[in-house]
Amino acid sequence: EKGNYRHFMQKEIFEQPTVVAQTLGSYLRRDDYSVALPQFDFDISSVRRLTIVACGTSYYAGLVAKYWFEQFARLPVDIDVASEFRYREPVLEDGGLALFISQSGETADTLAALRHCKEEGQTIGVVVNVPTSTMAREADLLLPTHAGPEIGVASTKAFTCQLAVLAALAAHMAVKRGLMSRAKETEVVQHLLEAPACLNAALDHDDDIASMAHLIAPARDVLYLGRGQDYPLALEGALKLKEISYIHAEGYASGEMKHGPIALIDEDVPVVVIAPSGPLFEKTVSNMEEVRARGGKVVLISDAQGIKDAGEGCMATIEMPKVHPLIAPLVYAIPVQLLAYHVAVVKGTDVDQPRNLAKSVTVE
Ligand code: M6R
Repeated sequence: EKGNYRHFMQKEIFEQPTVVAQTLGSYLRRDDYSVALPQFDFDISSVRRLTIVACGTSYYAGLVAKYWFEQFARLPVDIDVASEFRYREPVLEDGGLALFISQSGETADTLAALRHCKEEGQTIGVVVNVPTSTMAREADLLLPTHAGPEIGVASTKAFTCQLAVLAALAAHMAVKRGLMSRAKETEVVQHLLEAPACLNAALDHDDDIASMAHLIAPARDVLYLGRGQDYPLALEGALKLKEISYIHAEGYASGEMKHGPIALIDEDVPVVVIAPSGPLFEKTVSNMEEVRARGGKVVLISDAQGIKDAGEGCMATIEMPKVHPLIAPLVYAIPVQLLAYHVAVVKGTDVDQPRNLAKSVTVE
């Protein structure tokens, strides 16, 4: 039931602090601040290469996680969308771990890729929200998200819960590979446990986002920019907007703008820039300046420091709490979801059942 919410998507966006806390609760121990994964019969420290496969929003969660597996566990990560992976004759190392991410656990492309990897002798890890799904049954290592049923066709809470599980897995692999000290593990767990409160703080900006949606609603095209682990969020923001508002949107790595897409910029193409303050901020801001110099209208999503440093001259700014970089992808998911949601509401589209889309894509 939708309760006091107008749409399931809206309800599911607002459930995120609770369901992310639930999910983290089953992977992190609060008594000693350690990561605790389900027991399974496979030596995870022997993995030399990780293969991640998924579709849509679940694929973007995998893209974020690639940064974590590389950064913490120093693991090479191969990642692809399932429909491409399955038919490109991927090279899989003996004894490798293949990780599949899916809300439904029924997506046909992902399932075909999973079965292919199984035939090739890979150990199958599955991050899935529906515990009774086909993928869950076929997993060697089952890593459930505890998002609860997701009804809206546009995935929201499943995404942030996937990120929570993947962050825990990356930390666990780092520990097992001898690359994360006990002190560092404690620190990582503490930061992850801060996520639910930070998600709540992000949701407090719902009204601000609702009141600027009319700036985006008339656009024909919208660009989203992000750098590093915020790049997948740019892709996710663009996907959310196109799915439910039918506005054409593209996500780009900030630095790629000048290699082509900048030709599209004029005063009719809003550019949403996802840029928490931090080491990559200055670089992204200079890409944002390139956009502004060509008449582009920028919506900057950043924290108070970032908005103070670079917010002037933007069409709008959306302020996020200052958060640790590890949880930034979870927190910054909220404004991109809310922006798409409110733009769709302004346009009067069918938010929960957008045209041409099904919740679960069970054909290849
Ligand atoms: O159930 P899955 O996570 O496997 O679904 C994958 C995609 O079909 C899904 O994320 C789709 O892109 C959503 N509609 C995105 O909002």
